[in-house]
Amino acid sequence: FEHGALAGLRVVVTAGPTREALDPVRYLSNHSSGKMGFALATACVDAGARTTLISGPVTLETPAHVARRDVESAEDMLAASLAALPACDIFIACAAVADYRPAQIAGEKIKKEDEQLTLTLVRNPDIVATVAAAEPRPFTVGFAAETRDLLAYARGKLERKRLDLVVANDVAAEGIGFNSDDNAVTLLWPGGEEALPRTGKGSLARLIIERIAARYAAARGT
Ligand code: C5P
Repeated sequence: FEHGALAGLRVVVTAGPTREALDPVRYLSNHSSGKMGFALATACVDAGARTTLISGPVTLETPAHVARRDVESAEDMLAASLAALPACDIFIACAAVADYRPAQIAGEKIKKEDEQLTLTLVRNPDIVATVAAAEPRPFTVGFAAETRDLLAYARGKLERKRLDLVVANDVAAEGIGFNSDDNAVTLLWPGGEEALPRTGKGSLARLIIERIAARYAAARGT
């Protein structure tokens, strides 16, 4: 592990969905499998990094040599991410964080009574933007999954969240993205972009990590 592109560096990866409790037996979530984040963590280990994976609920094995912290909600994921920051050179936010959570978690199971039930949701904290605003901040990488205007939205995220790199993913394209084994992405950073070829999540993860290592070195002037 001494000679990889990330040798000696500490990387934190968020992965998977978050789960936002509604009552003691129900939650709101999404279909993220966590595969891309876990593949990135494996690629980080292979590149020589000390790697921490902060994962929402997924059914994946922990990659070898990865320190894993399991979380449920976005608020838990934020707390675990902030706790990891003192030992983090590169932060990669791959998790599909729920944008909203129920305003209240009912103490007892919600009973069916009326024909309609209205839920009030409140915004969740933006984890990657919070990390990017920390001082000192790690080299911060976000993902953008969009069904249209991918590159424009991705560049907007790069600027608004003050990221160092965005991995843009067209989730409308057939056979790639959420829950599939293949993926194709474009990398964007301040002043440049590069499309990576469609391939399996494992080899794509290695390509993404190689480019993150190069951008990290360029940003640090090494
Ligand atoms: O704004 P949007 O959710 O499309 O941005 C996606 C990127 O932001 C991903 O890197 C995701 O992990 C991160 N994110 C986050 N916390 C949120 C929402 C998104 O870290 N609450």
